[in-house]
Amino acid sequence: MDVDKIRKDFPILDNIVYLDSAATSQRPASVIESINKFYKDQNSNVARGLYQLAEEATFEYEQVRKKTSKFISSNENEVIFTKNTTEAINLVMRGYGEKFIKKEDKIVVTMLEHHSNFVPWQELAKRTGAKFEVVGLTPEGNLDEADLVQKLKGANLFAFSAASNVLGTMPDLKRLCKLAKDAGAISLVDAAQYAPSHKISVKEFGCDFLTFSGHKMLSPFGVGVLYGKEELLESMDPFLYGSEMIRTVTSQKSDWNTSPHKFESGTPNVAAVIGLGVALDYLNNLEMENITSYTQSLSAYMYSRLNELDFIHVLGPEKRTGLVSFTIDKVHPHDIAAILNEDKVCVRSGHHCAMPLHEYLGIPASTRASIYFYNKKSEIDQLIVSLEKVKKLFG
Ligand code: ALA
Repeated sequence: MDVDKIRKDFPILDNIVYLDSAATSQRPASVIESINKFYKDQNSNVARGLYQLAEEATFEYEQVRKKTSKFISSNENEVIFTKNTTEAINLVMRGYGEKFIKKEDKIVVTMLEHHSNFVPWQELAKRTGAKFEVVGLTPEGNLDEADLVQKLKGANLFAFSAASNVLGTMPDLKRLCKLAKDAGAISLVDAAQYAPSHKISVKEFGCDFLTFSGHKMLSPFGVGVLYGKEELLESMDPFLYGSEMIRTVTSQKSDWNTSPHKFESGTPNVAAVIGLGVALDYLNNLEMENITSYTQSLSAYMYSRLNELDFIHVLGPEKRTGLVSFTIDKVHPHDIAAILNEDKVCVRSGHHCAMPLHEYLGIPASTRASIYFYNKKSEIDQLIVSLEKVKKLFG
């Protein structure tokens, strides 16, 4: 990875130390230009007009679906464009959950989840009368194996994250999908923190649903992806009702289009989808294997440098994705973030949309530094220098 060369595509990085890619990544110039180009030269609605401009926009939009399906090794009609991961999970909650989950059924999630993959299932349990169970963690921050096996017994749906946005934990995806299947449960993998730097093969994972957000992997805001197994998607109810999701509408009744159109009602964010295609090209050019190994080694460096500081309590296991959350005794994470900001070091502080996890850990909040392939060791070194300042200031 020639990071200095890569950084030329991200001029925003020239003046800041950006360590908040788990919240949203930066975008390369090619993605930013593609949005401009779309509105300037290609702008039209999709799947509606029959004139050349509209047909070209529709073609480009569907090309991105093709590219996305290749990116995750699925069929094209198994790729649904949503607004983000949250919307994708809500689509499954409403379209699958409200139709098939019944009173006394069991929904299982893990303590690693951020609210997007927690609240919809908690709400589904409330609406249907199903049980809602949360798999606990070991003191290191891995899934508690005995609890996992116990809670999956008799489960109907198991939703879990492929990489925790707080602890960085990466459970064995393939194994969890197999355990869910053996238990007779549908599996949903929240890959929001995993997809930006790991290869995805839904076939190999054996999952039923998988979701991720474009904005954490170089794309514009406003586009996410839901993968669902074809037969499941066909059996589900639509999420949003209106245009494009129908086959026919009369004043008496309507019936539905097939997937993916059944789930893409209304005008989509076409420019964002086009941008997602360019982002996938960028990632494919770098090759995901290279991104994985570079981000893993940088993350290991950050983990070990932070662990060297005696005033820092690092959260989570050693084997992790590209982020480290930590606490400092008697210093609020917001104060830490504000002091780091003086050195232009951007980190996230708070509960990171994972309040149940923080409650479980017995802490109100934490500070999180997260990296991507455009970060350098020298930026981690700057983080350490700035944290030493926090220590000095607070004694
Ligand atoms: N879930 C995103 C994060 O972890 C927003 O920051």
